Parts: sequence; structure tokens; C-alpha cells
Amino acid sequence: MQNSIADIEKEALENIEKAESSEALELVSTRYLGRKGELTGFLRNISSLPEADRPDAGKNANLLKVKLESLIQQAVSGLEAQDENSISGIDVTLPGRTAARGSLHPITQVLNEISGIFMRLGFDIAEGPEVETDYYNFEALNIPKYHPARDMQDTFYVSENIVLRTHTSPSQPRAMEKTDPPVRIISAGKVFRCDSDLTHTPMFHQIEGLMVDKNISFGDLKGILTTFVHQFFDKETSLRFRPSFFPFTEPSAEVDIRCVMCKGAGCRVCSKTGWLEVLGSGMVHPAVFENVGYDTDLYTGFAFGVGIERMAMLKYGIDDIRKYYENDLRFLGQF
Ligand code: DAH
Repeated sequence: MQNSIADIEKEALENIEKAESSEALELVSTRYLGRKGELTGFLRNISSLPEADRPDAGKNANLLKVKLESLIQQAVSGLEAQDENSISGIDVTLPGRTAARGSLHPITQVLNEISGIFMRLGFDIAEGPEVETDYYNFEALNIPKYHPARDMQDTFYVSENIVLRTHTSPSQPRAMEKTDPPVRIISAGKVFRCDSDLTHTPMFHQIEGLMVDKNISFGDLKGILTTFVHQFFDKETSLRFRPSFFPFTEPSAEVDIRCVMCKGAGCRVCSKTGWLEVLGSGMVHPAVFENVGYDTDLYTGFAFGVGIERMAMLKYGIDDIRKYYENDLRFLGQF
């Protein structure tokens, strides 16, 4: 029977030695010390031993029990310490895994950039609603009902007198109704038209500018817009003011810039003309001043409207306007 205790001890010690995890040690503990464990069974059956052997057998079995308990506990602690040390096995010089960061949409970026240029020139930010009345979108801007100029700006009608604005120009009468001159504002946002092809989307963005004071001349218009183009593209970009027509300006001018792609040599982007149209502008029509109650003898002013998508396409060489709205991260991630 003494042998038997020695056998149990030898085998148990080997098993503790071999155990490589706390789960394995738990199994060893159950196997020898558990309720149906080998050592427990031995103690329970002690009465079947010859009477003379019982005291020693009991004593040895109990000693072994205490010894195994303490060895198993030690082994568990050893494994835990090893786990903690293994943190120092991490190579802290490896680059960390960073979370992917978002960025502003290219349209927002260009909008912010253009706003920044005009703000530094002393313009304030004004706002106007995207769902606009027929009055501010057309009438106040000298575009009466059935005027042919409405044809180019067909839009989405919410009701007979409520439209999705076709341009940011309604910000002009809205701003002027709120304050007396001098006025120096820009106003940016979404506009809507019944249009959809390679270069037109039913929704796009514009930024409007308006400057009204005594003695504002066409020279001021040219100066401000030239400064803007030079800051947005570069100082080498030349401008051309081409006579045009808008009902709310007189005279009106469309502004072209030397093609940023071919520098004027003629290419696909500028249809071989060497010039690109970038914005509409002009001196505010007296009828618009009358609509907002400004004295037309005292005040003059100029206004302009810029398409944001187009400016961003020219700056970054984007060839299809629809890319802005496809939410493709391979495109958006480049800005
Ligand atoms: N609102 C015009 C359009 O969307 C652009 C424009 C032209 C705005 C001349 C102006 C301007 O302020 O003076 O086609």
C-alpha cells in the first residue's frame, strides 16, 4: 500500500510538470484531489488496509495531499507570471494599427478654400434657403414669369410659387433687404436644375458674391475676380471678360480663364479654344436695386456666381462630374 502512495506521487508530479496551462493544472488537481480523485479514493478506502498499516498510510496520504495542493498552486502562479512577462515580448517599435480617418469631401474643401479667399478680401458669409420662393429665385432678380431666361433654369417645382433654387443669386435680394449699403457678402450652397449628363448633375454647388456701395465700378469687379482667380489657381492664369447676358446684371460678363490643362494651346477640355468659362458676373441691374428699395442714383455694385464642381474639376483634373456623388472611397480618399 505504501508503494501505491509512492506511485500516485510519482505520477502526479510528472503530470504537474507536463501541464502547460492553468486548464491542464485544473485537470491534474481534479484527477488526484477531486471528490472522485485518486488520492481521495485512497483515503476513503484506508479501512480496507491491515490495521497496522492504517496510521502511516493515512498520514502519508494527507501529507501528499498538502504537497500536491501547494505544487499545483505554485505552477498556476508560475504560468500567470509568464503571461504577464510575455507583454514585454511585443515589439513596441512596430508601427501601430491606426484607425482609418475620414476627410472633407472635395466639394466642401474647395468651397472652404474659395470662401476663405473672399473672407480675406473683406466679404461676409450670407445664407439662403435651398427651397426658395419664385419671387427671390426669379422675380426679384428681374426674371419675370414667361421670360425666356427661365428656360435655361428649369427646375423642380414644389408648388407654383415654391422652387428648388436654380442658383445662389436669390441670396442677393435677401441680403440687401436685410441691410443698407455697403454690402459685401458671399453665399454658397446647393442649387438644382433639370439637367443630367457628363458635365451636369441635377444638384450642384455655387458660390455667389455681391458688393454694393457708392462708386463701385466694373474696375472693382475685375480687380476682385482677378485676385480670386490668381489665388485659387496661380498668378500665371490669365482672365478674359466676355460680354454676356443675365437679366439681373447690366453690363454682364462671363469670365474665362486660360485653359489650366493645355495652358492655351487647345485641348479636349477647352474644346480647342484655349479658354475655359468659370463664372458669370456683372454690374447689378438697377431693377434689382429698386426691388429691394436701394437708391439707384447713389449706389452701384457688382455680383458674380461661380460653379464649385467646375472649379474643383479644373483644379484637380477631374473629368467626370458624377464622381463627386458616387461615394467611392478610392476617389474621395485622394483629396
Ligand atoms: N446665377 C447665374 C447662373 O447660375 C450666375 C451669375 C451670373 C451670378 C451673373 C451672378 C451674376 O451674380 O452677376 O447662371
